[in-house]
Amino acid sequence: MSQSSKNISTVAPDLRSRIGNVEFKNPVLVASGTFGYGAEAKDYCDIEQLGGIVTKSVSWKPRVGNHPHRIVETPSGMLNSIGLANVGVHTFVKEKLPYLAKFDTKIIANIAASSMEEYRDVLELIEQNAVENLAGYEINVSCPNVKDGGLSFGTSVERTEELTALLRQSTDRLLIIKLTPNVTSVAPFAQACERAGADAISLINTVVGMAVDIYNREPRLSTVTGGVSGPAVKPIALAKVYDARKASAIPIIGIGGIITAEDAVEFLIVGSSVIQVGTANFVHPDAGVRVAKGLEEFLRAQGIAHVTELVNSLKVRAELKAAGW
Ligand SMILES: Cc1cc2nc3c(=O)[nH]c(=O)nc-3n(C[C@H](O)[C@H](O)[C@H](O)COP(=O)(O)O)c2cc1C
Repeated sequence: MSQSSKNISTVAPDLRSRIGNVEFKNPVLVASGTFGYGAEAKDYCDIEQLGGIVTKSVSWKPRVGNHPHRIVETPSGMLNSIGLANVGVHTFVKEKLPYLAKFDTKIIANIAASSMEEYRDVLELIEQNAVENLAGYEINVSCPNVKDGGLSFGTSVERTEELTALLRQSTDRLLIIKLTPNVTSVAPFAQACERAGADAISLINTVVGMAVDIYNREPRLSTVTGGVSGPAVKPIALAKVYDARKASAIPIIGIGGIITAEDAVEFLIVGSSVIQVGTANFVHPDAGVRVAKGLEEFLRAQGIAHVTELVNSLKVRAELKAAGW
């Protein structure tokens, strides 16, 4: 341990993290679709200890989502095909946002839609009803479980760029584009978001997957395929974050299989400024708080004064970098 780290080890580490002009009290957010709209988890989780909450994807009209079965457990993860079930943006601004305004933490509203105009209209309605702790928007262009939207944007660099530029005109709050791992490389998508004025990208959404009932020989999900999440996807997510980090300077929100503080540290080192905890919330609804506390302990034990020292600190040998790794 260095002399300077000995000096700081008794002082509480600084977990404050920043994207654009927004400061989060720590870099641990909860991921869209895994924490409802906050109320669902409030009895089990001290929400104010989270850096922020990303709300369930909201669309213009309410959606009931896909037929059951919509969830299958998989080794080290889960497969879901919820299909963007949500209350619709009018109920969101009338009931859900005012409830979330009570908490001393940042709120990011996640939006899903099937056309450019719908994304814009949902964002603008939320903007007109914004509450003080609304930090910004996460734009879901990466849901693999619906036919009409999501991935049809998120697998086209041109449409991702066009949508980002359009939405940029409607808000000065954080504009975060949530990318899919279901493409060969996320690099051109990261660059497109940066060009079009996004404040950050978040990745990954779920990885397309499938499960089969071997007795009746039917798919186990009503939609045949769904999205895999949880620890099984963490190595994929880390590689995608690294791919985006090498290709652009845009801030990254790392997501995918984060269960422990050590998982979060990996994402920070690879280049994420903040991270999101998703599937782990279904095991422990306070998983995000556990990760934030664990992160503080890790920093203290390692004599690291500011969590930001970890961000983008991956050591890759020069010859490997030169060879494109
Ligand atoms: C049941 C379930 C529902 C989800 N719903 C949404 C959603 O509505 N919008 C969205 O952008 N991502 C949604 N996701 C994706 C997560 O936010 C996250 O990107 C993904 O699960 C990877 O993180 P994890 O491995 O920590 O869960 C959902 C994931 C799960 C498991």
